[in-house]
Amino acid sequence: MRPDRELGRYRVGMAALEPMTTRRELPDSPYLAAARGRKPSRVPVWFMRQAGRSLPEYRALRAKNTMMQACFDAELITEITLQPIRRHGVDAAILFSDIVVPLRAAGIELDIVPDVGPVIDHPVRTVADVNAIKPLEPQQVAPVADAVTNLVSELGDVPLIGFAGAPFTLASYLVEGGPSRNHERTKAMMLGESDTWHALMTTLTDVTIAFLQTQLTAGVDAIQLFDSWAGTLSLADYRTYVLPHSSRVFSTLKDAGVPMTHFGVGTAELLGAMGEAGASVVGVDWRTSLTDAATRVAPGTALQGNLDPVVLLAGWPVVERAARAVVEDARRAVDAGAAGHIFNLGHGVLPGTDPDVITELVALVHSL
Ligand code: CP3
Repeated sequence: MRPDRELGRYRVGMAALEPMTTRRELPDSPYLAAARGRKPSRVPVWFMRQAGRSLPEYRALRAKNTMMQACFDAELITEITLQPIRRHGVDAAILFSDIVVPLRAAGIELDIVPDVGPVIDHPVRTVADVNAIKPLEPQQVAPVADAVTNLVSELGDVPLIGFAGAPFTLASYLVEGGPSRNHERTKAMMLGESDTWHALMTTLTDVTIAFLQTQLTAGVDAIQLFDSWAGTLSLADYRTYVLPHSSRVFSTLKDAGVPMTHFGVGTAELLGAMGEAGASVVGVDWRTSLTDAATRVAPGTALQGNLDPVVLLAGWPVVERAARAVVEDARRAVDAGAAGHIFNLGHGVLPGTDPDVITELVALVHSL
């Protein structure tokens, strides 16, 4: 395909099609230093869901566009990604997108419904449903690649984190048809029809790799794999039904040479296995201390986390005390063998969070 060919309403840019030859070095980035196990000049801090509904400037843009429109518009992706950087002074930007964007781009009919999450028109339940999922072609996410190209030049010395959903978390939305408490249809397929399950996971792993590869080619400085709902599984089931697929994501992308983070919620029992998948950084939620997490992952793994997002709603004295406790816990974690610490929440910023509290928290963490 020629790079100037029109695809739908989006012009296919160069970014998705032409391999990037040089990646930025950013030797002074505290985030990249900590993620690579080097000593950062200060404790790096960024927040999952830092771009989003906690920001009035985000809500103003979203009032004029649906979530899906925003996710397929290079200018909006660029602007929304930059909003928290301007406001908070965080040490990394995370690309504004969603884990279901590559699925939508590959032709699966779905929407992101406000206050609900991703909803799938035709849930995946049979082998025929799995076989109908088409591979993701880079030009189908050309706006994402174009936004990455724009961002890398706009961000100066702030690194850009690309991301994707891990195969299990994507499968849980596709099989359930939407958000779910118990992931019962997903686990029933996994345990009862394991051939169908592994076929689905193999297909989704390919989609995840293609989405991340596109972002890497366009120039992201790091990647994070979100397996948000993997914590619903036992360690034994995680190892049998999920780990081989998530490991393939990391092993395939390793040669890009960027730090790779593996994150999930409620994953205390899975942290070791999630590290084994091939990540240089493991994300930890607030249920597990960073010191304990350090003993569960292999030595040399950096940790990211783990302030409870709800703490940000409890008033500044509580925020300050809890943030100091996280930094102290992280120092003990490093003494216990962790390669470094990146301050974050244990899950995403809640929509009701006062953005000024986030700005103040960044300044506090930088002062510690
Ligand atoms: O700032 C950032 O972290 C980057 C943007 C980002 C979004 N989704 C934007 C978004 C990232 C990294 C994600 C990942 C994502 N999406 C995950 C993994 C991380 C996690 O939170 O566990 C998951 C499970 C999803 C699926 C999804 N999309 C959910 C659960 C929701 C929230 C539903 C709701 O409205 O409460 C979405 C929608 C979504 N993704 C919003 C944003 C900013 C809200 C959209 C809006 O209404 O404006």
